[in-house]
Amino acid sequence: MENCISKWPLVGPAPAALCLCVISMLLLCLLPSASCTTCPQKCRCEDLQFYCDTQGLQAPPDGVDKGALGLSLRHNSITELSPDQFYGFSQLTWLHLDHNQITTVQEDAFQGLYKLKDLNLSSNRITKLPNTTFIHLINLQILDLSFNQMTALEPELFHGLRKLQILHLRSNSLRTTPVRAFWDCRSLEYLGLSNNRLRSLARNGFAGLIKLRELHLEHNQLTKINLAHFPRLVKLDLTGNEIRVLTPDVFETLPNLKILLLDNNKLSSLDPQVMDMWQSLGTIGLSSNLWECTKRILEKFDLQQNVLFLSKRKQVAYRKSHL
Ligand SMILES: *[C@@H]1O[C@H](CO)[C@@H](O)[C@H](O)[C@H]1NC(C)=O
Ligand SMILES: *[C@@H]1O[C@H](CO)[C@@H](O)[C@H](O)[C@H]1NC(C)=O
Repeated sequence: MENCISKWPLVGPAPAALCLCVISMLLLCLLPSASCTTCPQKCRCEDLQFYCDTQGLQAPPDGVDKGALGLSLRHNSITELSPDQFYGFSQLTWLHLDHNQITTVQEDAFQGLYKLKDLNLSSNRITKLPNTTFIHLINLQILDLSFNQMTALEPELFHGLRKLQILHLRSNSLRTTPVRAFWDCRSLEYLGLSNNRLRSLARNGFAGLIKLRELHLEHNQLTKINLAHFPRLVKLDLTGNEIRVLTPDVFETLPNLKILLLDNNKLSSLDPQVMDMWQSLGTIGLSSNLWECTKRILEKFDLQQNVLFLSKRKQVAYRKSHL
């Protein structure tokens, strides 16, 4: 360094520029966001985002910088997440653990990930999660737990997730949702519970979801629906259940509903009061039910500007313009 400075006035501008460059690189390396971190052997690194996918890893690799902003461990062979597994990764905003073989997530596995916004645990073998699993993730916005083997949810599993906007639980084996399970999820806009084994909904099962816009309950075993007040719900998908009867009070709690899908259920008739409440809907799916009075229902909807998909046992879709 001494050499460099003493020569500076003597030689031309080129060495001076080189010298400045070296100094600025040294300075950059002292800053926390510098790109001077090393990349673990099995990873691809882009700045502070680490992609260590499809490497047969059984645990997160050593050498991932503690300042990492994102970490992808997709398509590996991780079977368990131990307590404090990600300790020290306090800057992490996304963590992708999908397509592993995770069966066990220990309490406090995600401790310290205060900045985490996006956690993907899809396509693992999780059967159960302790109710404190996500308690530290106060900034979580997206949580994907789809394609696992959960049969039940701990009552407090989603407590404290006030910023959660999207929750995927499709393709598990859930039989019910605990009372007030989503009570704290006041920011939730999307809830996916399709392809489970839900037979009934707890009275207060969905209480607290004041911002929910889409609720997916398709391909379950529901025989009736009783829903909490959903002031903002726009889309309700109940395709492929076993619903036989609809009562008007259900739709009183859904003032903003625009899309209602009830295809592949066991409906045989519709209460005229229910049909009146559907006047503001844009799309209604009613195909593949057990209709007894197709003509009356068609006449009723023919008066309105709805797009109506309706058939008897045949898979025929009618649109208003063709009636
Ligand atoms: C989670 O990962 C799965 C599988 O890679 C992907 O299909 C899904 O879109 C991801 N979830 C979110 C919310 O991005
Ligand atoms: C978690 O669940 C257990 C039993 O299921 C309960 O005793 C406990 O109070 C719950 N809450 C927390 C935050 O641990």
